[in-house]
Formats: sequence, structure tokens, C-alpha cells
Amino acid sequence: MTLTQQDIDQEIAAEHAAYEKRLADGAPVEHHPRRDYTPYRSSVLRHPKQPPIAIDVTKDPEIVELHAPAFGERDITEIDNDLTRQHTGEPIGERITVSGRLLDRTGRPVRGQLIEIWQANSAGRYAHQREQHDAPLDPNFTGVGRTLTDADGFYRFTTIQPGPYPWRNHLNAWRPAHIHFSLFGSAFTQRLVTQMYFPNDPLFPYDPILQSVTDDAARQRLVATYDHSLSVPEFSLGYHWDIVLDGPQATWIEEGR
Ligand SMILES: [Fe+2]
Repeated sequence: MTLTQQDIDQEIAAEHAAYEKRLADGAPVEHHPRRDYTPYRSSVLRHPKQPPIAIDVTKDPEIVELHAPAFGERDITEIDNDLTRQHTGEPIGERITVSGRLLDRTGRPVRGQLIEIWQANSAGRYAHQREQHDAPLDPNFTGVGRTLTDADGFYRFTTIQPGPYPWRNHLNAWRPAHIHFSLFGSAFTQRLVTQMYFPNDPLFPYDPILQSVTDDAARQRLVATYDHSLSVPEFSLGYHWDIVLDGPQATWIEEGR
């Protein structure tokens, strides 16, 4: 039987009500989603069944990776953080500027960090071989960028407002517009992955991936704010989004990546 949006809505409401009841009963705030969040069907199949394995740094041969050089200035070219300039022509869509700070739990800037993004084009289509959505590709838009945080922890990307896109969790399932973020750390073993959303997206309540973050405040921290001071005259609209690596204000990070 094909699940409808109404089926998923009821499951999301039940999960949220159960969470709110646990909170009222004194359970701690859940800053992260449950790994097997039923409305997000594939999470049930692929979530880890065993607790994470702690790496013994004295025995793990890959520990050398932690001592290898990290990405540096020389690895990033000038246009890597401008997704509108990576081809000969201009990509189609609304230009946006996305900027914010990478912070640790005490609010200190995390400097010199490699931040990578990937996203759909303005039609909601990824430039990816396994993409199943038949919206048009844009020959002038790859949807991938990277940059390093500066001395104050700031990152900045120029890109195109991504479109929402359908996926096959249930009938008529649509993802709110979002940009995927990867934070590299100082080695691949430290990499963290999350998603940024845009304010007031009408698809928020229908999306089981966003709703898998059951805590309202934690979910809100995944949503950027419109920032007029970041808008570039005659060029782009600005969005501000800070990423906090841990602590009570932490941005939800996808596990198992
Ligand atoms: Fe996506």
C-alpha cells in the first residue's frame, strides 16, 4: 500500500506528541533526531543497530590521518565559494548569498575550517547520475562549492536558491529547499554533515527528514534567517546561518557519515 502524506502527517504528529510528553515528564531535550524515525522510512532500514565503536588511537593504523596536513588556503580557488561563476554562462534562478559563522560550544570562532556545500539547482534537480527527478538540468550550475572559514569563523557562499524536489518516501513527498553542508574538521574521520533550510518554507511540516528533529528549538536552528545586510545590491538576497558544533545550542548533525 502506498503511504499518503496524511499517513506521514499522522505519524509525525504522534512522534512529536510522544516527545513533548517525555519532555513534560522530565526527559532531557533531544538535540538530535532518533536514528530510526519511522516517518522517514529509509532511516528505519539503515540506522545502526549497535552503539558506535570508540577508536583506540593507540592501535588504529589510520590514526596517522589525524596527523596529516589539513586542507589549507592553497587547496581552495577563488571561485570555489561562488557557484554562479563555475561555468561559462550564468545559472538560472534567484541569486543568494549565504554566510554565517562556525562556532564551538562556547561561542568561539572555529577558524580555517573547510566547509563544503552541495545542492539542487533552481528547478530542484541535482547534477548527479542517480538523480531520479526529471526537472531540467542547468548546464551552468553544478551545485557544489567549498570555502575556508576566516579568522572570525565566517564562511560565505554565492549561489542560486535551490528548488524543492520530490522523493519517494511516500506519495507526493517533497523536500523543502535546502543546502547540504559538510564540515571537514582536520581529517576525514572528523567530518560532520548537516542541512540548512530557508525561512517560512511551507513544506516544513510535511517533511519527515526535517521533522525527525523532534525538538522544536533544535529544528529551528536548521533554518537560516533573511539578513538584509548580506543582500548584495542589484545582485543577490542574503541569508545568515551559524553552525554551532556542540553544546546546548548545537546544530543537528547527521550521524553515521
Ligand atoms: Fe538534498
